[in-house]
Amino acid sequence: MKIAVLPGDGIGPEIVAEAVKVLHALDLRFEMEEAPVGGAAYEAAGHPLPEATLELAKEADAVLFGAVGDWKYDTLERRLRPEQAILGLRKELGLFANFRPAICYAELTHASSLKPELVAGLDILIIRELTGDIYFGQPRGRRESPDGAFRGAQEAFDTMRYSKPEIERIAHVAFQAARKRGKKVTSVDKANVLETFQFWKDVVTEVHAQYPDVELEHMYVDNAAMQLVKAPKKFDVIVTGNMFGDILSDEAAMLTGSIGMLPSASLNADNRGLYEPSHGSAPDIAGQGVANPLATILSAAMMLRFSLNQAEAADRIESAVKSVLAQGLRTADIYSEGTRKVGTRDMGDAVVAALRTQ
Ligand code: NAI
Ligand code: MG
Repeated sequence: MKIAVLPGDGIGPEIVAEAVKVLHALDLRFEMEEAPVGGAAYEAAGHPLPEATLELAKEADAVLFGAVGDWKYDTLERRLRPEQAILGLRKELGLFANFRPAICYAELTHASSLKPELVAGLDILIIRELTGDIYFGQPRGRRESPDGAFRGAQEAFDTMRYSKPEIERIAHVAFQAARKRGKKVTSVDKANVLETFQFWKDVVTEVHAQYPDVELEHMYVDNAAMQLVKAPKKFDVIVTGNMFGDILSDEAAMLTGSIGMLPSASLNADNRGLYEPSHGSAPDIAGQGVANPLATILSAAMMLRFSLNQAEAADRIESAVKSVLAQGLRTADIYSEGTRKVGTRDMGDAVVAALRTQ
């Protein structure tokens, strides 16, 4: 098993080091190879996603990614900016399914944006389609308006589109994920207004025929946004398009407490994938040793489960994380009175210690 380790910028190297430490503590055989990405790669090689880094990511079974970006690169031309690295990796590796679990750990209920009784025990999974939709549809651009009341005025336009195979493959991913969880899929659309999402709804319904053991519900995106704050525990797996998924997954993140707790996975058709925390490079706290490494450690657990076929090791990491939280250890972002504040390294060490005493 080969893991490409791409720490990136800001807090990336600090949090990835802790995840690597935890992986080593599992006593499984991995080959891990590190390469620069993002601003770090721009400094080292003049490009945010150098050829050698891309090659490593392509040949590995999985990519463990930290974060990229820093304000100091804001003036670079777009193709050289650190964030292009993650877009390039998604495209080159064909990563079309983005998994974002939103889990509210009992000990962190108080940190949620919602009332404790609404989020206690929350465990939902948002699956966002990552390569289609209005973010990539052509044509797009600016022009003189060809018709209508504002004919001749400047206008801008994008194209929303999904092909049947694109919807089918993400629907299969969602139904298969639901089979391993609560056996319910909520497909989020805007079928009442958009042809693209009427089509989405039709195709998801067709695929559902192959999964009679999983319940399928359809929900309009505006209602889904409301239900996520009203009764989030009613969901199990949510599957939706690129734009709706972008928005709903950030909304769901706030149900759980801290962005420092949220892992993510982006998978391709061979179940190879890229695993990264949901947060960015946090330049405001970089180099201080205070960042929360748990999102990255939990991303490594997802990597074991989805790409490396090591579900048991994944369970071990997740229960070690629960146990350090139960012990009262907290990084600054999840600290509250009566708990013990620790830094990035101490948190990683505590997870390793918890693994050893399982
Ligand atoms: P951010 O997620 O980096 O930070 C937002 C806030 O959350 C900050 O106050 C930060 O200190 C805090 N935070 C984030 N992760 C934390 C952790 N593990 N522990 C404790 N606190 C944490 O988002 P922001 O500030 O909007 O972006 C910073 C840079 O990251 C930008 O250059 C942005 O483009 C990039 N970015 C990169 C992503 C990626 O690599 N996939 C995703 C999102 C942003
Ligand atoms: Mg977003």
